[in-house]
Amino acid sequence: MSANSQALLQVDGLSVEMDVPAGLLHAVSDVSFEVGSGRTFCLVGESGCGKTMTSLALMQLLPRKARLSARRILFEGRDLARMSPREVAQLRGDRMGMIFQDPMTALNPVYTVGDQLAEVYVRHRRASRGQARDRAVELLERVGIMSAGQRLAQYPHQLSGGLRQRVMIAMTLMCEPSLVIADEPTTALDVTVQVQILQLLKKLQAEMGMAIILITHNLGVVARMADDVAVMYGGRIVESGSPTQVFGRASHPYTRGLMACMPTRGEAGPGQRLGSIPGTVPSLVGEHQGCAFRNRCAHAGDACGHGVIAMRDAGGGHHYRCVLAAGAGSGRHAVQEALQ
Ligand SMILES: Nc1ncnc2c1ncn2[C@@H]1O[C@H](COP(=O)(O)OP(=O)(O)O)[C@@H](O)[C@H]1O
Ligand SMILES: [Mg+2]
Repeated sequence: MSANSQALLQVDGLSVEMDVPAGLLHAVSDVSFEVGSGRTFCLVGESGCGKTMTSLALMQLLPRKARLSARRILFEGRDLARMSPREVAQLRGDRMGMIFQDPMTALNPVYTVGDQLAEVYVRHRRASRGQARDRAVELLERVGIMSAGQRLAQYPHQLSGGLRQRVMIAMTLMCEPSLVIADEPTTALDVTVQVQILQLLKKLQAEMGMAIILITHNLGVVARMADDVAVMYGGRIVESGSPTQVFGRASHPYTRGLMACMPTRGEAGPGQRLGSIPGTVPSLVGEHQGCAFRNRCAHAGDACGHGVIAMRDAGGGHHYRCVLAAGAGSGRHAVQEALQ
């Protein structure tokens, strides 16, 4: 995050554990990052690396059996990690909101769009039904929905996937939150609709000034949207910084591996998914030593197998979690090399 932007959210030492039949799952391990006011922070990595659990932890929407711990999670100057579930529930939908991959998980199928939008506003703003309805129409128009007044009477299943996602965004923004978390918001949509939704988020951010935590496995989306990036692997952040730092001077072999799966840098569109790095993401169940990526890494040596690999400072806010020397190679030839 640049020095002159004020931190809206400071996550310090966030971990999420959960008992599963196979043992103790370390879904998120000691994750720390900051999100500046009005900025877009992208959390990127393959499926199963802990992105969703991180976002659910911030909203305190984790599965019941999951346990959260953190040194602190400062949001607008208050520590979410020390708040009661009731206090956090008051912030949700008001100061912070969440957009899910599948809006049907958040929209209630038995209520109309209008009722659901209005309910948020009535609850948090103690607005009258009439005020809430006017606000709902305003928000539907802002997210580009035509004939907004008529849409209010429709049910979620009557809308296309793209429209439902717009409704979800409208609902999230009813109370003008300062933070929106969007977890793979376009993954389920057609490519052209994906682009529209991303453009819409950018437009609304420019108008309303909210910060966005955008979770994606798609580097094309990161390139289009991010002010700041963190790459996650095995429940930890393995590299972070500006997009220029993280992708221009990628230092973690995992980041390089992700990039090697892209066709050509700069040509990535939102439809472009990650290719595959040989091997699979590790199970996060049980105790693990060393770098979680070492089984897939061409450079791994003895030093990679012990303890917790520390974050190293590459300067200017760029960090990476690898014992290999920085500059062991960067650029595309090194990307290929990292995967051989
Ligand atoms: N409800 C659940 N029950 C058991 N394990 C889960 C559950 N949700 C996620 N996990 C596990 O937690 C880890 C992190 O998952 P998740 O945060 O969903 O990753 P991502 O969003 O990056 O794909 C993975 O090992 C995943 O298998
Ligand atoms: Mg996920």
